[in-house]
Amino acid sequence: MAIIKKFRITTFKKEINKISLNKISLSYNKRQILDDVSLNVREGEICGLLGPNGVGKSTIFNIIVGLVKPDYGNVFINQRNVTDIPIYKRAVDFGLSIVPQTGGVFSNLTCLENLKAISEIVVKNNSERNFKIEKMISKFELDAVKNTKAKHLSGGQRKKVSIAMSLMSDPKIILMDEPFQGLDIMSTRDLQETIVNLQTEDNNRCCIISDHAARDLLAISDRAIILANKKIIAQGTPSDLINNINAKNLYFGDAFKIN
Ligand SMILES: Nc1ncnc2c1ncn2[C@@H]1O[C@H](COP(=O)(O)OP(=O)(O)OP(=O)(O)O)[C@@H](O)[C@H]1O
Ligand SMILES: [Mg+2]
Repeated sequence: MAIIKKFRITTFKKEINKISLNKISLSYNKRQILDDVSLNVREGEICGLLGPNGVGKSTIFNIIVGLVKPDYGNVFINQRNVTDIPIYKRAVDFGLSIVPQTGGVFSNLTCLENLKAISEIVVKNNSERNFKIEKMISKFELDAVKNTKAKHLSGGQRKKVSIAMSLMSDPKIILMDEPFQGLDIMSTRDLQETIVNLQTEDNNRCCIISDHAARDLLAISDRAIILANKKIIAQGTPSDLINNINAKNLYFGDAFKIN
C-alpha cells in the first residue's frame, strides 16, 4: 500500500464538493436498496466505495450518472442540482465518465474499433484522436489484440478496453465500477498507477471507485465509504476505516489488514 501512496501528491487537498448525494432513498419493486444515503466526494479526491454484494454500489453509480432516478433525495455535481438532468448532459457539462461493472464495450467491434468509435464522439481533432488511441493501446498493453473483437478478448483485456474508452474524453469525474475485476497482478498495479497519475495530472479531477479488491482499492484511496444494510456505516481514510468497529463487524471481518 505504502509504495503507491509514496508517489502521490497529497499536500494540496481541496474542500470543494464535486459530487454530493443528499438523502437518497431508492426501492426496486418495493424492496428498499438505499435508505437516506448522503455523501460528499471532493475535488481532487480518490474515493473508494466498498460494501458487500448487492448493497447498492452500482446503483449509486447509476444514480450519479443519471441512469436511475432516486425515489427521494437529490444529486449534486459541482454543487449544481442535477437530479432532473439527463445522462448525456451530465456527461458533457461536467465531464462525467463511467467504467461500468459489466459491458462497456461493443462486443462485435475490435479493440481498435471500440476506441475509434468513442473517440469520434469525444475527441474533435483528427490527429489528436489517433494520438490518444495509440496512447491508450500502449498504456493498457493492448497492441497484440487491437484487431481482436471485444467478444473474443479475455475478461481482463475487455476491462482494459472499457477503462481506456472511459478515459478518452479526459473526464473530470470518473466512476469506476470494479475496475480491478479480472486484472492480473501486474495489470492491477499498472491501473493503480494510472488512477493515481490521473489525479496528479489534474488536481481537480475526482474518482469514485468501487471494487471488492479492498486492499488494492484502499491503497490508492484518499478516503473510502462503506455501505451496509442500505446505509453508509463508516467513512474516512483507509487507516481510519480499518480501525472502525462498524466497518470491521459489517464488512472487513476480523482478519483484514492493509499492510
Ligand atoms: N433494475 C433493477 N431492478 C430490480 N432490482 C435491482 C435493479 N438493479 C439493481 N437491483 C437490486 O439492487 C440491489 C443492489 O444492486 P447493485 O448492483 O447496486 O449492488 P452492488 O453493491 O453493486 O453489488 P455487487 O458488489 O455484487 O456488484 C441488488 O439486490 C439488486 O438485485
Ligand atoms: Mg456492483
